[in-house]
Amino acid sequence: MSTEKALPLLDDRTIVWPKSGSGAGAELAAQIAPYVQTHIVEYEIAHDEDAFIRAIKDAIREHRIIRTSITPDNLRQVFDRWVDLIGNELGVANPSDLAVLFFADIMHDGDREAMNNLPARLLMTASGPTFLLNGQTYELASKRGYNNFWAIYHRPPEQKHRHYLLERRDSLLPVDEQKFKGAYYTPLHIVDKAYDQILATLGPNWQDRYLVWDMCAGVGNLEAKHSNLRNVFMSTLDQADVTIMKSNPAFAGAEIFQYDYLNDDVTDCNEAEIATITGHSLRDVGAILDGHYLKRDHSLAVSAIKKLEARAGFPTFFPTKAERT
Ligand SMILES: C[S@@+](CC[C@H](N)C(=O)[O-])C[C@H]1O[C@@H](n2cnc3c(N)ncnc32)[C@H](O)[C@@H]1O
Repeated sequence: MSTEKALPLLDDRTIVWPKSGSGAGAELAAQIAPYVQTHIVEYEIAHDEDAFIRAIKDAIREHRIIRTSITPDNLRQVFDRWVDLIGNELGVANPSDLAVLFFADIMHDGDREAMNNLPARLLMTASGPTFLLNGQTYELASKRGYNNFWAIYHRPPEQKHRHYLLERRDSLLPVDEQKFKGAYYTPLHIVDKAYDQILATLGPNWQDRYLVWDMCAGVGNLEAKHSNLRNVFMSTLDQADVTIMKSNPAFAGAEIFQYDYLNDDVTDCNEAEIATITGHSLRDVGAILDGHYLKRDHSLAVSAIKKLEARAGFPTFFPTKAERT
């Protein structure tokens, strides 16, 4: 049984939960039965042990037990997954239509539309999900990918995120894997996991609260799953890699420049600025802070990056604290 089916139980004020599992009695069982009964499959361990273990393993592997919300932090990851499992099956001629169809799908609760006036629409017909865009209909050859995708994610996104997510629509183009294969590239499935870990460490909306500078960006794989490129700086050693990154629409909005972070002259910056923007311990640079990239003192980071910009010859807009929160 998927977790979300049990969640209404937690809102039912008539249920008194015992302090320990063993405190649950017949009365509680009778109260929760209406919520869970139809979703429960009984396995008799004497006969069905193998089937039971297989069912649990499948549910964990297919992420059916807990669904993930779609938020600004994982938008890019979710879109890439959606293109893999659903978008690629729709036979869309223009890849930029995929983002429009993606939003029609996620802004739908499975029964009805959660947002009106979107350029594309999703209709649930007898033959399955049908997308409408510019007078054309798109159907899925099989519902397998569709069901797998929506077993992992929860829809629609929370109200507070919807408009923000929609604003990102223009930045979403399907990732062309070929563009992400540099000499020392970081595989995209590793990048995916890294973004899960960063979210777990830095918390919700981290992409709005932090400026990111990838100092050895290569062809930019580490930013392929970033949803908010406006807060991203990408520099690397080889001009050829800079050219590849600049020509990749996935990085539109990011500041991309050639820079040798080990040897280029940053002597205009004081130790605190260097420590702040590199994240290295000040034991290495002098010794005051051991902060994270651009995190500990925003004004030092801004000052340091402005010096770099003056050198590289491009301007940047820095959001104020109020704009960042
Ligand atoms: C491990 S790779 C990073 C790969 C990157 N995440 C990607 O997937 O393309 C290291 C990259 O750092 C670059 N690099 C090496 N030394 C550098 C330096 N001193 N300054 C800037 N970039 C450097 C290399 O050219 C290479 O592209």
